[in-house]
Amino acid sequence: MRFTAKTAALLASSVVSTTLAQHVRDLSSEKWTLSGKALNHTVPAGFPSQAHLDLFKAGVIGELHGLNDFDLRWIPESNWTYTSGAIKDLQKDAKSTWLVFDGLDTFTSIEFCGEFVASTNNQFRQYTFDVSKILEHCHGDPVLSINFGSAPNIVNDIANDPRSPVWDHSTQLNYEYPNRWFMRKEQSDFGWDWGPAFAPAGPWKPAYIVQFEKTESVYVLNTDFDIYRKGQINHLPPDQSQPWVVNASIDFLGSLPRNPSMFIEFKDFKSGGILSSKLIHNVTVSGNSITGVAVLNDVTPKLWWPLEMGEQNLYNITVSIRGSGKEPVASVTKRTGFRTIFLNQRNITDAQIAQGIAPGANWHFEINGHEFYAKGSNLIPPDVFWPRVTEAKMARLFEAVVAGHQNMLRVWSSGAYLHDFIYDLADERGILLWSEFQFSDAMYPVDDVSLENVAAEVVYNVRRVNHHPSLALWAGGNEIETLTLTTINRVAPDEYPRYEEEYEKLYISLIMPLVYQNTRSISYTPSSTTEGYISIDLSAPLPMVERYEDVEPGHYYGDTDFYNYDTMISFNYSAYPVGRFANEFGFHSMPSLQTWQQAVDPEDLHFNSTTVMLRNHHYPPADTATDNFRNTSLGMGEMTLGVQRYYPVPNKVDSVANFSAWCHATQLFQSDMYRSEIQFYRRGSGMPERQLGSLYWQLEDIWQAPSWASIEYGGRWKVLHYAAKDIYQPMIVSPFWNYTTGDLEVYVISDLWESAKGNVELSWVDFAGKPIAHNAGTPHSLSFEVGALNVTKIYGTNVRNLTLSHPKDAVLVLSLSAKGHLPNSDKEIAFSHQNHFTPVFPKDLALVDPQLHLSYDSHSKKFTVEAKSGVSLYTWLDYPSGVVGYFDENAFLLLPGQKKEIGFTVQEDETDGKWVKEVTVQSLWDQTTKN
Ligand SMILES: *[C@@H]1O[C@H](CO)[C@@H](O)[C@H](O)[C@H]1NC(C)=O
Ligand SMILES: *[C@@H]1O[C@H](CO)[C@@H](O)[C@H](O)[C@H]1NC(C)=O
Ligand SMILES: *[C@@H]1O[C@H](CO)[C@@H](O)[C@H](O)[C@H]1NC(C)=O
Ligand SMILES: *[C@@H]1O[C@H](CO)[C@@H](O)[C@H](O)[C@H]1NC(C)=O
Ligand SMILES: *[C@@H]1O[C@H](CO)[C@@H](O)[C@H](O)[C@H]1NC(C)=O
Ligand SMILES: *[C@@H]1O[C@H](CO)[C@@H](O)[C@H](O)[C@H]1NC(C)=O
Repeated sequence: MRFTAKTAALLASSVVSTTLAQHVRDLSSEKWTLSGKALNHTVPAGFPSQAHLDLFKAGVIGELHGLNDFDLRWIPESNWTYTSGAIKDLQKDAKSTWLVFDGLDTFTSIEFCGEFVASTNNQFRQYTFDVSKILEHCHGDPVLSINFGSAPNIVNDIANDPRSPVWDHSTQLNYEYPNRWFMRKEQSDFGWDWGPAFAPAGPWKPAYIVQFEKTESVYVLNTDFDIYRKGQINHLPPDQSQPWVVNASIDFLGSLPRNPSMFIEFKDFKSGGILSSKLIHNVTVSGNSITGVAVLNDVTPKLWWPLEMGEQNLYNITVSIRGSGKEPVASVTKRTGFRTIFLNQRNITDAQIAQGIAPGANWHFEINGHEFYAKGSNLIPPDVFWPRVTEAKMARLFEAVVAGHQNMLRVWSSGAYLHDFIYDLADERGILLWSEFQFSDAMYPVDDVSLENVAAEVVYNVRRVNHHPSLALWAGGNEIETLTLTTINRVAPDEYPRYEEEYEKLYISLIMPLVYQNTRSISYTPSSTTEGYISIDLSAPLPMVERYEDVEPGHYYGDTDFYNYDTMISFNYSAYPVGRFANEFGFHSMPSLQTWQQAVDPEDLHFNSTTVMLRNHHYPPADTATDNFRNTSLGMGEMTLGVQRYYPVPNKVDSVANFSAWCHATQLFQSDMYRSEIQFYRRGSGMPERQLGSLYWQLEDIWQAPSWASIEYGGRWKVLHYAAKDIYQPMIVSPFWNYTTGDLEVYVISDLWESAKGNVELSWVDFAGKPIAHNAGTPHSLSFEVGALNVTKIYGTNVRNLTLSHPKDAVLVLSLSAKGHLPNSDKEIAFSHQNHFTPVFPKDLALVDPQLHLSYDSHSKKFTVEAKSGVSLYTWLDYPSGVVGYFDENAFLLLPGQKKEIGFTVQEDETDGKWVKEVTVQSLWDQTTKN
């Protein structure tokens, strides 16, 4: 299905080896060993791999359990050497021999046949080394050895060098190991507020030996296939009436034939039909790249659309380099699609102001010329060790993304640039990937050597993933403008000009032109959160002038990033930021009991056990030289308060049951807070701020720990993922309650691209399920018409004006039904959504035992839940360990007598189907009971 440059070369060489005359040796097929002073012996090693993984396989260390985050520090604090066996059957008389590394993590010293080849220091670059001379003189079969230095020690040495830059500690967010900004390595490897600091080392991506037998032979290293509308410029809206242009560029090793030409062909991925083929004689050769440009004047490809906006139409593009012979000298096939994706940061126009949009600047995405509401979350590294991130694992994660109506993920820096196969999965599923360069919450060196290193990383990765239609944006780094720069301005304003200058040097003067030179299809923003730019002049030394804090009240400009751990204001709308787009927001919660059990011993299953507490990394340590987290209990306290303020406090007799109930309660708080915030942001699509995006922090976990994730490590959904799935539906009905004034408003929110009509039923009931007299003065039913990407207020009152004699024994059930079309679909479909409102917080409700009943039908493979005698809030189906998957719906409201059928999508099952017998159901009522 996927076709990498490597397989292209391999395939081509087996088919037409006489003309290609090149041999490609995949080094994963050699016998590798791992050695290190800290070990005293060698162990077998994988390739690609990282030292921890091989030590684990060899039984030197156990699974990542308990406090291993601290106990295994001896591994990153020593050097590790990967050594191959004797590499047999290399051609000693080859014209040239090359080592090609697709990824080395991170500081290495490489030897081939006992001779030093090179050192590397950037995890994110592809490296090639000519070892022809060494091989020529090598006696016997050569051995390749790669010595990986200790990243924590090396960056400390750099930091201690008096020539190294120094910044104020307030701008340099430190988690466990210090000085991460001195390495081009995954920054979260040194710890983050949601993750551990294993700081792995090893060859994390494949490597090859490439030998050429003669000149005029080409090995493909990387490609840059850029598909855009004629005349398109990254920061301007593309003209959708223009033909598509393809700019195909291949980076290669070896040498081109004389007068090379390029052949470009597009085939429909489904039907195999040829869309277009072009022979290009006018190619440009520059350094080790060959480029050809074709205008697809004569064809109208089917467009690629994100999830729920149309089809994900895909095409294979094959690009071949030809000489005078019949056969190509190189040929690469990749899967791609035709779409424009544009981040609109332009000034609000008079026409927009006339529509009621507040002045300032836009900050939203447009797909194929259409505005849309971006719904999704933030993706962090899905594992501490990338070599064990499999396609199956990512497919399961993306299945949950699609089920959750999420059309965009922000690929947070600073993890790693995603593998191609992950973009491929996103291309298939319509998940847009807002991508970033790996810089986060710190200042970084801007000397010439560092900038050169960054430039190579940027160019390689921009080119590598540019053909993927899921690629949505390039952003310079995480929170640099709105945290790093604003912090220095606050704590040491005299220092600010130096920081701003360094910021602009790296993210604007260096990176922006590199992005523009390698893609015309993708927009660039220097910082994940920003107030946008004032002007762009590509010929100026500083091509983008940022607005920074130069803002006018009542105007809105950029995107927002919002965290507040004071749980007093978690449901206070006036605390939420008003902006054009919310790219980060959230609150942490505990994973479930089942997930904790994967990682901690039974005696540690207490809310505030040392192990649980030390896996909460919310607050960085004061002194990074120690393993003790100064404030580790603060995060536990915040979650506790969130529960205590709003929910019944668990008080179970059995301590494990109590732990489990507490974990669940923190998830209820988290989920309700996100519901409140997401509904607020989505309602903003019809407010002056014209808010067009909500990406919550964070999608998944890197390990088992308290965090902001909606999906636990291993794939189990928290309450939040179900809540987000519910509230990210295209059309929703939402109550907005100002608990200070008592004002209650009900809105219908739609992100469809055309207006739709429907109806909302409003029913007040008490907890026994009996209708409240006169529906408490509320109309039973309201019809509505909601505009395209808009909202409509259907009801407003003050709870004091409702005829409720027992506000604690009352719930307003809202049911929406409507008809309409999803974008780019002719099919009229029915939309429905249920929501509810209680006039007091859950802890104050006069809950009754709903007497839940659960059954399973093995024919339909569905569970049926029924509340026999009372209203069931947050009805929660739970499944045992041994299986991973998700229910169609969860944490829902059930009225007495109502039966709900619910399916379960099995993603992994080690129980041979027995798990169905252990599914349980509970509700908010169960949080109040002792058993
Ligand atoms: C390796 O040997 C050293 C010195 O003999 C010893 O201190 C250390 O514990 C050994 N390491 C392992 C992993 O066996
Ligand atoms: C550790 O690794 C680094 C990077 O490969 C290298 O420069 C250094 O010499 C190594 N040190 C030892 C003791 O092997
Ligand atoms: C597209 O390319 C992939 C990988 O190269 C290949 O498996 C598939 O058959 C191709 N499809 C068509 C329609 O050419
Ligand atoms: C060849 O391509 C270059 C770059 O795309 C372009 O500037 C030039 O006009 C082309 N020449 C011809 C003869 O088409
Ligand atoms: C956008 O508005 C700002 C004022 O906020 C102005 O300085 C700038 O020139 C405008 N940019 C464009 C491209 O019109
Ligand atoms: C956990 O510890 C924190 C900090 O001491 C405390 O505030 C909180 O109440 C504790 N939580 C529970 C559930 O015991």
